[in-house]
Amino acid sequence: MNSDDIERLFQAFATKDERLFQQVAQEIIEHEEQLNHHLVAIKLRKIIKDQFKDQSKYQSTLSFRTQPIPRDNEKGFPLLEIKKPFSDWSDLIISQEVEERLREIPLEIKNKDILSNYGLKPKNKLLFYGPPGTGKTLSAKVLSSAIGYPLLVVKFESLISSFLGETAANIRKVFDYIESGRWVVLFDEFDIIGKKRDDPTEHGEIKRVVNNFMLMLEDYQGESVLIAATNHPQLLDSGVWRRFDDIIQFELPNTESRIRLYEKKMSVIPRDTTIDFASFANQSNNFSGSDIEQVANRAMKNTLLDKRKRVTKDDIERAIIRQKEMISIREKV
Ligand SMILES: Nc1ncnc2c1ncn2[C@@H]1O[C@H](COP(=O)(O)OP(=O)(O)OP(=O)(O)O)[C@@H](O)[C@H]1O
Ligand SMILES: [Mg+2]
Repeated sequence: MNSDDIERLFQAFATKDERLFQQVAQEIIEHEEQLNHHLVAIKLRKIIKDQFKDQSKYQSTLSFRTQPIPRDNEKGFPLLEIKKPFSDWSDLIISQEVEERLREIPLEIKNKDILSNYGLKPKNKLLFYGPPGTGKTLSAKVLSSAIGYPLLVVKFESLISSFLGETAANIRKVFDYIESGRWVVLFDEFDIIGKKRDDPTEHGEIKRVVNNFMLMLEDYQGESVLIAATNHPQLLDSGVWRRFDDIIQFELPNTESRIRLYEKKMSVIPRDTTIDFASFANQSNNFSGSDIEQVANRAMKNTLLDKRKRVTKDDIERAIIRQKEMISIREKV
C-alpha cells in the first residue's frame, strides 16, 4: 500500500465516504493480486464481502440516501432495488477487448477532473447487449464495486403500468431518485421496449415509454453511470442506439474463456488431478457463463452430497449432459 492509498483510506474514514473507501479497498486488493499475494487478497476481499453482505446494515450507513424508494402508485411495488455488490474484475471472465472497454469507465471517472479541464466528461450512458447469462448484470456489479457507487437495478417491466400516464410518472420517479446520489444504474430487460412494440394493445403506451426514457436519458447530466441491458438488440431502432456513449457486446465464451470459467467456478473444492477442463470446454460449445456456473454447482453438490472430498470427471460429465438437456428445453420455448 502506498502513502497515497493510506491517505485516501484515512480520508474515507474521516469523512465517512463509503464510496471512496470501497474504491481504495478495491485498488489495494487488485494491487495485492498483481503482486501474487493471493492469500492476502482473498482475506481482504472476504472482510469487505462480509461487511457489505448485510444490505440493511449498509443502507443505514448511507448518508446521502434520504429519499424513500419510489413505488408504482397502482400496484405499490418498488420501482428499483438497491444492491451493494462486491464483485471484482477477477470474477468476470470475458474477452480482453470487452474488459478493456469496461475498465475505461472507472478510469475516466477517476480522472474526471483532468477531463473537465478540457471540457470533457466521463462516458456514463452505456448499452450492454448479448445472450442471456453472458455477464451483463455481473459487469454492472463489477463496475459498481470498481467505481464505488452503489448499484440501482431498475426492471423495465416494473415501470410499465396499465394506467395511462402512470408509466411516464414511474420513469420520472426513477430519474428523480437517481438525482439523489451517484449510482451505477442498471436498466434491465430493456428489450421489453422492442418486444411489446409489436403488440397492438401495448403500442401507444410502449411508444411513450421509449420516447420518455430516451428523453430522460439524453437530458441526464449527472455523474451516475446509466446502463441499459438487453438480449434482443435487433428490437431496438436506430434512434435508440445513438443515445449511448458506448455500446458493448457480450458474447458466448470462447474455448479459452470456458476453460477459465470452469476453473473459476470450481475453485472452491478439490478435484481429481486427472480432470482436464479443456476437454469439458470442448463438450460445452454453446454454453454461456451462467450454464457453466450451473454445471459447476451441480457437480460440486453431487460430490458433497455423496460425502466425497473431490470432484470427479464423472460428476462434471453428468452435469454437462443435464445442462445440455436444459438448454434444449430452453431453446424450444
Ligand atoms: N462472463 C462471465 N464471467 C463470470 N461469470 C459469469 C459470466 N457470465 C455469466 N456468469 C455467471 O452467470 C451468472 C449470470 O450472469 P449475468 O446475470 O451477468 O448474465 P446476464 O448477461 O445479465 O444475463 P441476462 O441477459 O439473462 O440478464 C452470474 O452470476 C455469473 O456467476
Ligand atoms: Mg442480467
